Amino acid sequence: MQKIITLLFIIACSVDLHAQRSMKKLIQEQFDFAAKQYKILASHTPPDKMPKTYYAKKDKWETSNTEWWCSGFYPGTLLYIYEYTKDTVILNEAKRRLVLLQPEDKLKGTHDLGFMMFCSFGNAYRILHDPLYKRVIDTAANTLALRYHPEVKAIQSWEKNKVFTYPVIIDNMMNLEMLCWNAQNNNEPNLQQIAETHANTTMKNHFRKDYSSYHVIDYNPETGEVIKKKTWQGANDSSAWARGQAWGLYGYTSMYRFTKEKKYLEQAKNIAHFIFTNPNLPSDMIPYWDYNAPGIPNVPRDVSAAAVTASALLELAQYVGKNQKNEYISAAIKIIHSLSSPAYRAKLGENGGYILLHSTGAFPMHSEVDVPLTYADYYFLEALHRYKEWYL
Ligand code: GLY
Repeated sequence: MQKIITLLFIIACSVDLHAQRSMKKLIQEQFDFAAKQYKILASHTPPDKMPKTYYAKKDKWETSNTEWWCSGFYPGTLLYIYEYTKDTVILNEAKRRLVLLQPEDKLKGTHDLGFMMFCSFGNAYRILHDPLYKRVIDTAANTLALRYHPEVKAIQSWEKNKVFTYPVIIDNMMNLEMLCWNAQNNNEPNLQQIAETHANTTMKNHFRKDYSSYHVIDYNPETGEVIKKKTWQGANDSSAWARGQAWGLYGYTSMYRFTKEKKYLEQAKNIAHFIFTNPNLPSDMIPYWDYNAPGIPNVPRDVSAAAVTASALLELAQYVGKNQKNEYISAAIKIIHSLSSPAYRAKLGENGGYILLHSTGAFPMHSEVDVPLTYADYYFLEALHRYKEWYL
């Protein structure tokens, strides 16, 4: 009996070792590939612009100015590539783009400063330790806090417009990481308080009983009351827009990291449960652009939602018991394998230099449908980085 137990133990260990070796190899391949691809993307991006997407049929690159919410993902991705490969051509390109992006740390008209300035300068400071990068994050965090309204108890997402008075979108959960990081690194409890209050308000008003989320909650800024619950990028007001679910999962996981508040952990676990038990989640775990999109299965996927989910799950796995940890890591590995396969990963020299295919930006506006997107690449590499750091 003892011999059988020992044999089973040896088999289990060698299976584990084999799986780890294959993940190590996969991660190396993806980063080597990313370095080659991003040199192509760099060569097609004018020095005063940031990459946005690429339309293969027209062989057309689309770029943005630095005010676009995605402007931090390109430098952030370059930094993840540099960190792994130590390729200084990539590092120099990242540094040039950070110089271009820096003035946006005072941009008051957007809630997306976390995406813009923390995915870029946050990684730059983490890897390169230059105090200038920290000063940029400090400025950006304090700029973002100006959008907080004490009556609504949330940070305003978009400006008042014809449709919304004081809109708050689920995506905004992603901008809290910069506030919390700043609060804890500078002893600024006010920023932490703003982040927590926003997360609490979002938990109260954005979520349905099944832990799927509305995209947009519109508030009355005089009273803080909810005016309406709507969508902007989803299939309809009561649908589960795929990337919105991923933003929520990631956002509450990182709120737990900073606060150790059990309610944030439970929220993240419940969102994960909604995603994994959704009957419309395909077996390769790359969701359709909306879990309730009319026409499933003949509708586009959203690779960006899958990449965000994989990265979030790898963090969430650190905060739960053994069985759930294994479940989350296995799901993240499955997503990573799908994304690394020819079904979703570009061939060398193709896809305009982006890494991943098949993301969907804003389906209802016919904008960026079935294309590469900067944030899909960013969160994919972040997931690989996290796996390497935490689980190899
Ligand atoms: N507003 C960010 C997104 O499209 O996910």
